[in-house]
Amino acid sequence: MKSLLKLLSISALAVFVIIACEGPMGPAGKDGVDGVDGINGTDGTAKCSACHNNSAVISAKQLQYDNSQHANGEMAAYTNGRTSGDCQKCHTHQGFMEFLKGTGGNVHQTFLDVQQPNCYTCHQVHKDFAVTDLALTTTAPVTFMNGIGGQYNNTASNSSGNLCANCHQARPASPAIPAVGSGNLTLSTSQTRWGPHYSSVSNIMTNTGGYHTAGTLPYNASHSHKNLSCTSCHMATPYGDKAGGHSMALRYESQGTEYVLQAGCITCHTESASAFATKNNNSRAAVNSMLDELKTELIRLGIYNSSTGLAIPGTYQADIAGAFWNYKVAVGDGDDAGGLYAHNPPYTKALLQNSIDRMKQLK
Ligand code: HEC
Ligand code: HEC
Ligand code: HEC
Ligand code: HEC
Ligand code: HEC
Ligand code: HEC
Repeated sequence: MKSLLKLLSISALAVFVIIACEGPMGPAGKDGVDGVDGINGTDGTAKCSACHNNSAVISAKQLQYDNSQHANGEMAAYTNGRTSGDCQKCHTHQGFMEFLKGTGGNVHQTFLDVQQPNCYTCHQVHKDFAVTDLALTTTAPVTFMNGIGGQYNNTASNSSGNLCANCHQARPASPAIPAVGSGNLTLSTSQTRWGPHYSSVSNIMTNTGGYHTAGTLPYNASHSHKNLSCTSCHMATPYGDKAGGHSMALRYESQGTEYVLQAGCITCHTESASAFATKNNNSRAAVNSMLDELKTELIRLGIYNSSTGLAIPGTYQADIAGAFWNYKVAVGDGDDAGGLYAHNPPYTKALLQNSIDRMKQLK
């Protein structure tokens, strides 16, 4: 059987050899016509270089941002993992993304690799790789969360200030702020941080957010700063990476001297630089002295703890609680004694002066 198979394959080979035996090759045919050139392809990186190029489009913003409180604040780590209080919405990039999903989002998480607010929090980076990528993540109007009501919807500068208002607004009061002139507020030992939180700027800008006790100064005075977008002052033409632009800072120090970036101010404030500096200093001094005066009253009435700056647990009539609230709103307008309280000075001053006058009537 084996030798039969061998014999068959040998004869098959012989057939192939016979077929492979050919005659001499004929002459070569004529060359064909050249083909038409195809369309040039686009460089793989052409889209990228709309932003990533030799100009400072990205790098200048990175340097400015690196110098901002957004980059340097440490609260992303501290607030991560909180199960109440919405901390991560404002203090972390991931929390803000969850918040933007609406009811489907879960702000209260312990995020892995948690980040502070950064480029991706405010811009739609690398979504479609077109220049429209840099569109802001939201510009929708913001309904305030503090329980007093009101809305921030500033359409100046493409509504870009609406983005800021999501985070730079007062937090809800817990327990709720009493209605003007009615009832009491009781604070337990775990509620000594009662107040609007550190950032009530957007509320102030819209003449809302305070406790409007009756008084001589109006709460609805119109003021030119009120209609400006946050970005027109905070993101004005930058001074290097120290102020303006993506540092979003206004007060800075250079060669040992303190300055306020004036790029966003001088379109309106055409007075001399020194006259403008005096105006800033006087305005700051006026608010600081009102804050001192109100603090003295609040200490006298037993609600303000002078060593911690927090509330003292107890039960207070509405106007005293409201005056304490107003004090905290005004402090958040400037943040520290060097702050300028520049957002809506007539409103801030009305909150303080009317509260001082009311407290002085109380025993
Ligand atoms: C519309 C502008 C824009 C375009 C177009 C663009 N980028 Fe970016 N890119 C950015 C911004 C903004 C950042 C964030 C910078 C930062 O994090 O500091 C970034 C960051 C990056 C980074 C750093 C790593 C990271 O993800 O943070 C890389 C790598 C990158 N881009 C690659 C590309 C490539 C490749 C393309 C083209 C396919 C491209 N980019 C197109 C704006 C752009
Ligand atoms: C996702 C929330 C969020 C958004 C959006 C946001 N901020 Fe902030 N911003 C913060 C937080 C949180 C801080 C404080 C960081 C810290 O101290 O840990 C801050 C700090 C600041 C500061 C510095 C405050 C200080 O004490 O020095 C300025 C100024 C500021 N933001 C302006 C803006 C402007 C202008 C916009 C809009 C273009 C904006 N922010 C948008 C969350 C936000
Ligand atoms: C509505 C947005 C928002 C929410 C919610 C929020 N914060 Fe803040 N918080 C801010 C902003 C904005 C600042 C910075 C204000 C400024 O400097 O003018 C700030 C400042 C702070 C600071 C002072 C930081 C510093 O650098 O001095 C602490 C501490 C803080 N927040 C803790 C918390 C905690 C804890 C929670 C949750 C219980 C929380 N925050 C919820 C927006 C928010
Ligand atoms: C807190 C929010 C916020 C953060 C963080 C942020 N941006 Fe912006 N950015 C803005 C706003 C607001 C504008 C102005 C948009 C407008 O007014 O139309 C802007 C504008 C820009 C522009 C266009 C400016 C121009 O020349 O027209 C670029 C580029 C840019 N940002 C890049 C970045 C990069 C890179 C980062 C991170 C290093 C970053 N941004 C972080 C809010 C932010
Ligand atoms: C849209 C125009 C406009 C811009 C921009 C503007 N201001 Fe004003 N500001 C006014 C007007 C109008 C008044 C009220 C008249 C006055 O005191 O000059 C005022 C008042 C003030 C006051 C005095 C408040 C008081 O009641 O004592 C200060 C301080 C001030 N501005 C600071 C600034 C700073 C700082 C900037 C820039 C970061 C700025 N302004 C940007 C229009 C503007
Ligand atoms: C008229 C110009 C102007 C406008 C408009 C404006 N700001 Fe300010 N803002 C200032 C000035 C001036 C300061 C004081 C800077 C300082 O003292 O460091 C300030 C301070 C702040 C601070 C606190 C900085 C600190 O020292 O703690 C925050 C946060 C802030 N602004 C956010 C905003 C937001 C959010 C908006 C829009 C809702 C806004 N600002 C609109 C001028 C402005």
